[in-house]
Amino acid sequence: MDKYYITTPIYYPSGRFHIGTAYTTVLADTLKKYKKLRGYDTFMLTGLDEHGQKIQDKAKESNLSPQEYVDIQAKAAIDLWRKMDISYNKFIRTTDDYHVKAVQKIFEIFLANGDIYKGEYEGWYCKPCESYFTETQLVDGKCPDCGRDVSKMKEEAYFFNMKKYAQKLLDYYNTHPDFIVPEYTKQEMINNFIKPGLEDLCVTRTSFDWGIKVLSDPKHVIYVWLDALTNYLTALGYLSDDNSLFKKYWPADVHLVGKDIARFHLIYWPIFLMALDLPLPKTIFVHNWFMMKDGKMSKSKGNVIYPEQLIDRYGLDATKYFLLREVPMSQDGLFSPESFVERYNYDLCNDLSNLLNRTVSMINKYFSGKVPSYSGTPNDVDNDIENCSKKVIDDVTNLIDKFEIANALQAIWSYISRTNKYIDETCPWILAKNENDDDFIKLQSCMYHLVANLREIAILIRPFMTITSDNMLNQLGINENISWGSLNDYTLLNDLKVIPKGEPIFMRLKADEEINYIQDLMKK
Ligand code: MSP
Repeated sequence: MDKYYITTPIYYPSGRFHIGTAYTTVLADTLKKYKKLRGYDTFMLTGLDEHGQKIQDKAKESNLSPQEYVDIQAKAAIDLWRKMDISYNKFIRTTDDYHVKAVQKIFEIFLANGDIYKGEYEGWYCKPCESYFTETQLVDGKCPDCGRDVSKMKEEAYFFNMKKYAQKLLDYYNTHPDFIVPEYTKQEMINNFIKPGLEDLCVTRTSFDWGIKVLSDPKHVIYVWLDALTNYLTALGYLSDDNSLFKKYWPADVHLVGKDIARFHLIYWPIFLMALDLPLPKTIFVHNWFMMKDGKMSKSKGNVIYPEQLIDRYGLDATKYFLLREVPMSQDGLFSPESFVERYNYDLCNDLSNLLNRTVSMINKYFSGKVPSYSGTPNDVDNDIENCSKKVIDDVTNLIDKFEIANALQAIWSYISRTNKYIDETCPWILAKNENDDDFIKLQSCMYHLVANLREIAILIRPFMTITSDNMLNQLGINENISWGSLNDYTLLNDLKVIPKGEPIFMRLKADEEINYIQDLMKK
């Protein structure tokens, strides 16, 4: 069985996760569920990035020790992922003992091999980003990543010799076209960082102590990014007594990262792996961001929305559908109360829920709930819908494989619309009135195709919206073992009986009321 190891970034436990931060994890979970349906042996990793000055400061603000602070945050993160049905296999915390030990060993390996050397660092430091910048990297004298103030700092420090690996990295990019998705991010890395010349990276700090100490020189704390990036290895037991998971799952098939942390994953991380003589991940997928009309989500701007707020009112699947549907491959996605309510009412309620509801009630009305069998001699309308059924499977599979998640959902929804149109084309209510054999066969065929398509839709949406998929299959009376491979297996439609009365799976929202409701949430 092929394996599939997918990771999310490990999050800073510096407060409540909003829908933007939750996006990476929802996406990873969806990809994992998809691969699982395709029969892969899957492993998903997520967790928390608990060290560093920022966390130390946050703990102080709350009058807690850093460890107490991160313990509380970890519990909140785990609760949220449970609520969101995130099916991770491992939740790593960088304060975990096995991780700390492995990072210390990695540092000593780098030292012993001469990849890390001791020197002195002077530069402009951005505290929130925990990053040093050179004079030329600053934008208007501020941090180029977050735009905040920076301060001049100087310290004895260890450096990683990045320059040594620059050409090797470039060669790797050029010989591994699937390594970075999307392509334009690769070009950005080459043009903005590699071509101008890589700087050696300062990999220790002495200005604070909440971090992993260098074994051979404990007044130095290991830089959070070196500590954090290696989590993808240590979570599998790398350099521990039990490295069976590491042997089985490394290299990662996909690292998912937001665009703000691309540089760390596309430059430093592969170089660290090269220095450890380990294979590189197969693909690093860099996704865009979730924004608000007036820019980044931020509590101080009063424009934040938290996933649990949407889930509590509209359900998990509607929330996930919106998140996954709204971030296109080449642009940021936008959250607005209006678009959330519109997607809910049009896509989920009008298109999907009504299709299921109409089908279940017609089969009850015309065939006492029993799904008719199909003679196998399609007329023109059936021919067309059958072609669409075959095509959508390939389309959706290809799009997900290319990480075009919003487009994959769009393809499924076009198919839902096509199926709704099929009802209008065949007019089953007229066929049912006409008492002749020909029309009766057409009516049977129509009901059969509707159930076939709904079953297919339920499987296609399953990685994205598992609860809805279950509800649909339940209403259709389907209780097979669901897999992507059985999408084409129409023998599984024999002898089905739909439930006597299907409740709508999504109910229309009163748009104005709900838009106001969400606007109020954003101000809280
Ligand atoms: N701790 C680092 C990652 C270390 S990985 C070895 C970190 N943490 S984070 O909490 O700041 O961000 C976690 C993820 O959330 C990142 O992938 C980031 O891009 C993503 N997002 C944060 N805000 C986001 C949006 N508004 N929209 C989409 N993703 C966003 O970075």
